[in-house]
Amino acid sequence: MPPRMTDSNRSLLTLRGLDAATLTALLDRTESLLPVAQGIERMSKTDAGAMVGLLFLENSTRTRCSFETALHRLGHHPVSLTGQGSSVGKGESLTDTAANIAAMGVRALVVRTSYSGGADLVARVTGVPTINAGDGRHEHPTQGLLDASTLLAHLGSLRGKRILIVGDILNSRVARSNIHALATLGATVVLVGPPSLVPWVFAEFGPTIEISHDLDAVLESADAVMMLRIQLERDAGKSVSSDYRMAFGMTSSRASRLPEGVPVLHPGPINRGVELDDEVAADLARCLVLEQVSRGVAARMAILERALVLNARIK
Ligand code: CP
Repeated sequence: MPPRMTDSNRSLLTLRGLDAATLTALLDRTESLLPVAQGIERMSKTDAGAMVGLLFLENSTRTRCSFETALHRLGHHPVSLTGQGSSVGKGESLTDTAANIAAMGVRALVVRTSYSGGADLVARVTGVPTINAGDGRHEHPTQGLLDASTLLAHLGSLRGKRILIVGDILNSRVARSNIHALATLGATVVLVGPPSLVPWVFAEFGPTIEISHDLDAVLESADAVMMLRIQLERDAGKSVSSDYRMAFGMTSSRASRLPEGVPVLHPGPINRGVELDDEVAADLARCLVLEQVSRGVAARMAILERALVLNARIK
């Protein structure tokens, strides 16, 4: 099938190059949708009823359920498909799968795949507005948006703030999306981890990106700390020593060294006792993991609105 053009204004494939005005508009809309995301207020149903394909060909709990919740809150309908139980298990390709779901008349596609660049490929092949829900090591833009929303709620502004991202940067699509979003919003991003997982090449992401292989040396300079999981499914464990927790984990002892009000984030799922101690995860005043999830529903509503409202406008 020849590639077809898609309207890049309706797709969200990457946060790289997304201008500050668009990012800020999505974050503002996220904030205003929070009461709806939490079920306190309801949407008017005038534009409701769109079908949206959720293609989750790689495992997910938060992102998939968050998109389903967001669609229900907006009055739209998910058409869900996972790798297990679908014809992907018989060897059907990502693009053939997406083209078939698109042919059923869905108004947008949400794609998670282990293939870096897979969401972009789906957008080009189907011509349907496509939202990247995590593609391999490439990007996880909706996670980047919900993380920025959470940080803004606690820090007010990100301009001039130092945000530490700690852990398996090499394999992390979350890190890549956050680097782009946080830098666009004016923050300095400090990437922290062992050299095997934080190679110097990441400094080339931009002038406000710093690299450190010593968490204790930079910990107390942080305005916020984002812990990342070791991506065991991408074989990252092979390059991580058994001393990882002592060198790069957010232990209770390290958390106690953080100034008051400095939040700890984690995209989930947590490898408890590796990158985050149980006591730190349980401190909900400090650790914003569940707030990130709550905000994720509103962020995905804002992103879906962008895809679907513009779609409706061109009818
Ligand atoms: N943060 C995140 O993407 O979690 P899931 O893999 O559970 O969707």
